[in-house]
Amino acid sequence: MSDALNTKILGVGGYLPENKVTNFDLEEMMDTSDEWIKQRTGIESRHWATDEQSTSDLALEASIEAIQNSGLKKEDIDFILVASCSGDADFPGVSCFLQAKLGLGTIAALEIKQQCSGFVYGMTLADSLIKSGLYKNILLVGAELQSKGLDKTSRGRNTSVLFGDGAGAFVLSANPELDGPRVIASDLHADGRHAEELWIPAPGCALGSSRMTQEIFDQGMHFPYMNGKVVFVHAVKRMSETVRTVLDKAKMTSKEIDLFLFHQANLRINQKVGEMLELDDAQVHNTVQKFGNTTAATIPLGFKDAMEAGKIKRGDKLIFAAFGSGFTWGSVIIEY
Ligand code: ACO
Repeated sequence: MSDALNTKILGVGGYLPENKVTNFDLEEMMDTSDEWIKQRTGIESRHWATDEQSTSDLALEASIEAIQNSGLKKEDIDFILVASCSGDADFPGVSCFLQAKLGLGTIAALEIKQQCSGFVYGMTLADSLIKSGLYKNILLVGAELQSKGLDKTSRGRNTSVLFGDGAGAFVLSANPELDGPRVIASDLHADGRHAEELWIPAPGCALGSSRMTQEIFDQGMHFPYMNGKVVFVHAVKRMSETVRTVLDKAKMTSKEIDLFLFHQANLRINQKVGEMLELDDAQVHNTVQKFGNTTAATIPLGFKDAMEAGKIKRGDKLIFAAFGSGFTWGSVIIEY
């Protein structure tokens, strides 16, 4: 690793499908209520893609904006990383479809399948690739199109009301200055013993002789399953834990952090994490109310939203922290 290189966020982009779906719209589809959803999760609306859109289409919009915003030419990008668990196809990953749509020749394209923690894993990986000197300008995208994979009947109401579609992108570039914009510290974890508390089992090679049968389909095993209460408890514990760890690694305190961007699964989770870490409300930017849970797209979409609200300026210190299926979790501290 070279100590002489740091990773700077050079460009930011985000895209949300135009189609906004309110809790009242969901009341028409399943046995749920605006009151239940708002009270338990804080969510009021989310965006769902059209039938014609694919995950890589959302990723493309966010990427074009991030590249324009970075001031680079698209040909300057030398590596694509996409965090997604709701791809265009079972394989290959979104990164390959995106690379072709961007017209980026034969540069490397890599997929990260770490669900809600995907973007935090991606930040750490991109930072390592840049610090090693191997790549200079990495396009890191979080892109999710969950709405096409949800059970939108009353059977699936405990998960389908939570998710939204969208994509967010950063152009991350090598910064030769020792101080200034950089990834200051990061902390990543997984605990696969809880993999089946939040997962989509099918299609899957653990299902017997075939990855998908009519029986598997009839049982709805291709829809997300979540043990909500277990996930909630672990999310609060692990997100507060990883923030403390990453602050220790950076030898910083939470008071020195200008803004926290937590994963957005549930407003109540983030309020509890904020209480445990004794954060001021002004230090936390939440978007779950209007975007729902956009899985790996959440952190960059939150970053763009906070920028547009005038909450982020160059020189600010931020923490990104996430928790999700796997279980996976982690955090990074950056100077913007
Ligand atoms: N509308 C109305 N009623 C509902 C709905 C709904 N959408 N969903 C469930 N209910 C009902 C249940 O059937 C249950 O009814 P019952 O008491 O008659 O049996 C009741 O509401 C309570 O259900 P719970 O599941 O116990 O509700 P809970 O208070 O746990 O809240 C929630 C559910 C909001 C999902 C919560 O558990 C949660 O937020 N969990 C964590 C989510 C999370 O962090 N996900 C991680 C990221 S996702 C990823 O990584 C891909």
